[in-house]
Amino acid sequence: MIERGAFITLEGIEGAGKSTCMALVSRRLREAGRAPLETREPGGTPLGEALRELLLGHRHDGMATDTELLLMFAARAEHLQQKILPALEGGRWVLCDRFTDATYAYQGGGRGIEHERIGVLEQWVQRGLKPDLTLLLDLPPEVGLERAGRRSAPDRFEKEQRPFFERVRQAYLDLAAAEPGRFRVIDAARPLEEVERQVSGAVREFVAAWN
Ligand SMILES: Nc1ncnc2c1ncn2[C@@H]1O[C@H](COP(=O)(O)OP(=O)(O)O)[C@@H](O)[C@H]1O
Ligand SMILES: [Mg+2]
Repeated sequence: MIERGAFITLEGIEGAGKSTCMALVSRRLREAGRAPLETREPGGTPLGEALRELLLGHRHDGMATDTELLLMFAARAEHLQQKILPALEGGRWVLCDRFTDATYAYQGGGRGIEHERIGVLEQWVQRGLKPDLTLLLDLPPEVGLERAGRRSAPDRFEKEQRPFFERVRQAYLDLAAAEPGRFRVIDAARPLEEVERQVSGAVREFVAAWN
């Protein structure tokens, strides 16, 4: 029987360094002989990417928070069925830029949907599947937004105000505190070299424990 691949996710607010660290984690995994499937949420499949445009674009700026939540999980269901589960079951490692922790942080902490209601959908869609390792890049929103702001026009989430991102950050930290075995919290406000050192260390430790 093929051993299932490991599922690794990167989380954090905009500008935390997820995309930057994704490349590093992927390199470290390739060096360890575990070349990962790289993907992202919302998105990762043609339908998921179409839903991403609806979620991040401004055509439906006033969408109801429950609609936003359901579209996130619709994209996730597609992503799991079409891409993530087949890869994991085939023994491939999967590296994903954001996953369900982002839903708890943004739709839960940010938008105010109760944790329990999100949990119902998580169970429905994932049937118990969770990431094996989650790297949470934690930093104050003002630092992240300043970094992200240099990038491009703000999307439907990026245009939110500071208090929204404070709630998102706190929700992420609460998730990490509740599952210390799965999370590694990285101080992402540090200079990039230091963040990369912390990320490399966490990946090395995880790979060693998995083998
Ligand atoms: N530790 C860091 N210190 C300074 N700048 C950083 C650091 N990490 C990432 N950056 C820069 O911040 C910007 C946002 O990083 P990015 O990886 O795109 O964040 P995310 O994907 O989490 O939104 C990029 O320009 C990146 O080069
Ligand atoms: Mg990114």
